[in-house]
Amino acid sequence: MKPRTAILISGRGSNMAALIAAARDPAFPARIDLVLSNRPDAAGLRAARLAGIRAEAVDHRDFGPDRAAHEAAIDTMLQTANIEIVCLAGYMRLLTPLLVQAWQGRMLNIHPSLLPSFPGLHTHARALQAGVKLHGCTVHLVTQETDAGPILAQAAVPVLPADTEDDLAQRVLRQEHAIYPAALAAFATGKPVGSPDPEACLTNPPAWGTA
Ligand code: GRF
Repeated sequence: MKPRTAILISGRGSNMAALIAAARDPAFPARIDLVLSNRPDAAGLRAARLAGIRAEAVDHRDFGPDRAAHEAAIDTMLQTANIEIVCLAGYMRLLTPLLVQAWQGRMLNIHPSLLPSFPGLHTHARALQAGVKLHGCTVHLVTQETDAGPILAQAAVPVLPADTEDDLAQRVLRQEHAIYPAALAAFATGKPVGSPDPEACLTNPPAWGTA
């Protein structure tokens, strides 16, 4: 059975769209069942609905400073939808232990740098500032430390002398759209790509749909 997958977004949702498009292929080994956003105005919500995917907002502002209560509401929706894998795709909230622990080993994130270089924000500007000649993106499992979980897949791009931040962001984004579906497919079939120790990445070897 294909694992039921949710995507968490905060904005435009181009990685979400790449995952949804990939999952339209009957041979793709995961299904996208739900898109959640912490922002009701996220463009990705509309795109998901147009693609026929259930898409809902769980507005963090409704919960004030209570981050755990916001995450509990998200977790309830994930559990109610029988979700088995969660993909963060431009979800711009730092996670509390509540969601991290509930989804440990089953939550993926895409980050726009070659981790462990440039965790955090403004990765393209920082890469240009540092003068690196290679930059890229990483899909990794989510752990409590931000952008530091086991790496599942990476893609590198050259940094060209005349690059602006936007040039570099576009070049990296094209690779994000390729590696996120590939990493999800590999993860869903129990074969994380590009990891030195694939077994260590899977705290729950997949038996999707049996819970
Ligand atoms: C991507 O660059 C992703 O790596 C980062 O946030 C951005 C989200 O873009 N985490 P999109 O919403 O998927 O278009």
